[in-house]
Amino acid sequence: MMIDTHCHLCKEDYENVELIIENMENNKMIAAGVNDTTNKEVLELIKNYPTVYGAIGIHPTEVGISTNASLEWIENHLKNKKIVAIGEIGLDYHYGIEERQKQIEFFKKQLDLARKYRKPVVIHSRDAIEDTYHIMKEYQDVKMILHCYSGSVEMAKQFLKLDVYFGVGGVLTFKNSRILKEVVSFLPIDHILLETDSPYLAPEPFRGTKNEPKNILLVAQALANIKGLSVEEVLNITTENALSRFDLNKSL
Ligand code: NI
Repeated sequence: MMIDTHCHLCKEDYENVELIIENMENNKMIAAGVNDTTNKEVLELIKNYPTVYGAIGIHPTEVGISTNASLEWIENHLKNKKIVAIGEIGLDYHYGIEERQKQIEFFKKQLDLARKYRKPVVIHSRDAIEDTYHIMKEYQDVKMILHCYSGSVEMAKQFLKLDVYFGVGGVLTFKNSRILKEVVSFLPIDHILLETDSPYLAPEPFRGTKNEPKNILLVAQALANIKGLSVEEVLNITTENALSRFDLNKSL
């Protein structure tokens, strides 16, 4: 079995989401929301498709259009068994830092919810790795996943001490991803999760096109090459990692 631990299956991105889900056959995927609209879409998807699980959350670049009611809505749906995580949440200073205080506030409030309801969190961090780390350090009891990790080996060492799992995707197949390849060589495979971040970051040879969860196999192949394992071994290990980090056995 393969599990795409992080994808976005929004109506806005795919003409036919059903086809994209069917392309995964019996494999599983965790669809993540980023704002009120897409969180509601996630609820629809998990209701309609047995192979789709959900993560709901307010993404840092969406805090401007989000309110406390958004957080209340999330809290009210955490008891849904197929909502397996809070995400995508985090910090993103790439487009400026005007919203920094609100991003930090929403990040912490969602980590508080994760603690209260014992849900894992899927974290996005862009140009904000130091602040992300300092906040995460206060929540070591929460099961955390850094999605699409793009930091250094040194930072990865620090995050490993917090028992963080690392989501690795299509970037690993890019020719110019030297640092990520170093990070992945360093990371113990029991802390790696496969993800596509569809519709973004399609792996080679599809780079630049619309990504979809079935491409997770190409990420597994790249990881197998780096780790000197077979693709089957990589799929077995990372599936086990996903089952445990997201407590999926409870929801399957
Ligand atoms: Ni994402």
